Amino acid sequence: METQTHHFNSLESTQDWAKEHFSSLDHSKFHVISANRQTKGRGRLDRHWHSPEGTGAYITYCFFIKMSLSNLSSISLMTGVTIAEALQKLGLTVKLKWPNDIFINEKKAGGILIETKPFDQGHVVFVGFGLNVNTSAEDLSPIGRPATSLYIETEQVWDIPTVVEPIETIFKRNLDTFLKQGFKAFEKDFENIAFLNGKKIIISHGKDATIGHYQGVDSSGALLLKLADGQIKAFASGEIISWE
Ligand code: BTN
Repeated sequence: METQTHHFNSLESTQDWAKEHFSSLDHSKFHVISANRQTKGRGRLDRHWHSPEGTGAYITYCFFIKMSLSNLSSISLMTGVTIAEALQKLGLTVKLKWPNDIFINEKKAGGILIETKPFDQGHVVFVGFGLNVNTSAEDLSPIGRPATSLYIETEQVWDIPTVVEPIETIFKRNLDTFLKQGFKAFEKDFENIAFLNGKKIIISHGKDATIGHYQGVDSSGALLLKLADGQIKAFASGEIISWE
C-alpha cells in the first residue's frame, strides 16, 4: 500500500481529522496523519491526551480494509508490538500493558487508540498513537499519573522522524501479516514483553471489576485472568486499574 502523508503544525486531534476526512481520502492508500501539537488530543475512555508542541509524536494511521474486525484489542496489541520493535531497535526496553499502553521503566510513555467505522462493504481503521519523545517531566506533570518520555529515560534528545519512521515501516509490514494471519502471528511477541506478566491485577469492565492473576492473552488478543476459584476468564475489553 502506498503511503500518503498529511502533516499539520496544529490540529485539535489527528484522530478526529482522520475521522472527519476519511471519505475524501484515496481508499487504496495508507494515510499517515500527524501534527506537531494537538489542542484536543484524546485517549481511550475519552481521556485528554496531553500533546505539547514539538515534543511528542501524535499520529493516526488511516486505511481501508475489506474484512470485518471483531476484536479491536488485537489491532491495539499488534500496534504495540510494532512500536516496541521500533523502539527496541533504538536501544530502548519497552513493555506493553494490555491493551494499549507503551511502558518504559514501569511508566507510561505512549498510548494507542483504535477506532473503526463500517465503510463500503469493509471498514476504515484509525490507529492513533501518542508517544512522549522529548517531553520534559514538567510538561508531563499536568497528567496526574506516572508518565515518562524517551528523553527522561535516556537523558537524550531524540529526532522525532528518526523515531516515527521505523514505526511506520514496521507497522505496514505487520499489518500485512495481521490481515493474512490475524493476531496469532503476534501472540508470542506480545507475551515476551507483556508488562502484566506474573502480576495480580484488577480489571474494570462496564460497572464491574474483577481481581485475578494475569495469564496472558488468547489468540484473539483477549486478556486471560485466573480467578480466586481457579477458573480462567477471558476479557475482550476492559481497563487495568491496579497491579502488584
Ligand atoms: C491512550 O493511551 O488512551 C491512547 C492515547 C492516544 C493518543 C493519540 S495522539 C494521536 C491520536 N490523536 C488523538 O487525539 N489521539 C491519538
